Amino acid sequence: NDPIPNYTIEEMISAKSIAARIEALAREIEERFADTEKLVVVGLLRGSFVFIADLARELRLPVEIDFLEASSYGNAMTSSREVRLLKDLSSEISGRDVLVVEDIVDTGRTLKSVLGLLQSRKPARLETIALLDKPSRREVDITATWIGFEIPDAFVVGYGIDYAQRDRNLPFIGKVRIEGDA
Ligand code: PRP
Ligand code: MN
Ligand code: MG
Repeated sequence: NDPIPNYTIEEMISAKSIAARIEALAREIEERFADTEKLVVVGLLRGSFVFIADLARELRLPVEIDFLEASSYGNAMTSSREVRLLKDLSSEISGRDVLVVEDIVDTGRTLKSVLGLLQSRKPARLETIALLDKPSRREVDITATWIGFEIPDAFVVGYGIDYAQRDRNLPFIGKVRIEGDA
């Protein structure tokens, strides 16, 4: 439990912009999965909990909600190399349509390792959506099927995303500015 420095948060993407973007993305997802029997919408804990709640309520499709937890960051501002599976899905996904929902793709390690795991279970279709994408930070070759917003390499919080487990409850995406930094 290291002490964290004082910081301020500057709004980067408003709650309104996020909602508008989710509406548009939901229409694309509905089109892709129009013929699905039931779409398994998988949120990656914990960061995706706000996004999956808003996205799922915008989808006019039969859905089932499940969660999986994999961790790469810990509490540090830089990601470690390892991705650990902390909680597996509750449902079987073999032969089913699956949509993985992420808050942010940074190095890409979390999404890549989760997709590898889920693909090995032979889903019928497996697609991914990330609210935020930081392509400049990518360390492994992975792109989500749908992206909400491409952002520069800034430390962001809110709408599910934390800084040392804080600020997940902010309704907007904000940029963290550490006091004393340039
Ligand atoms: C964060 C974020 C993504 C992942 C992105 O999760 O929510 O899941 O890191 O980083 P990557 O592309 O470099 O793998 P974190 O591991 O901090 O857990 P959390 O969702 O519980 O905050
Ligand atoms: Mn996460
Ligand atoms: Mg985190």
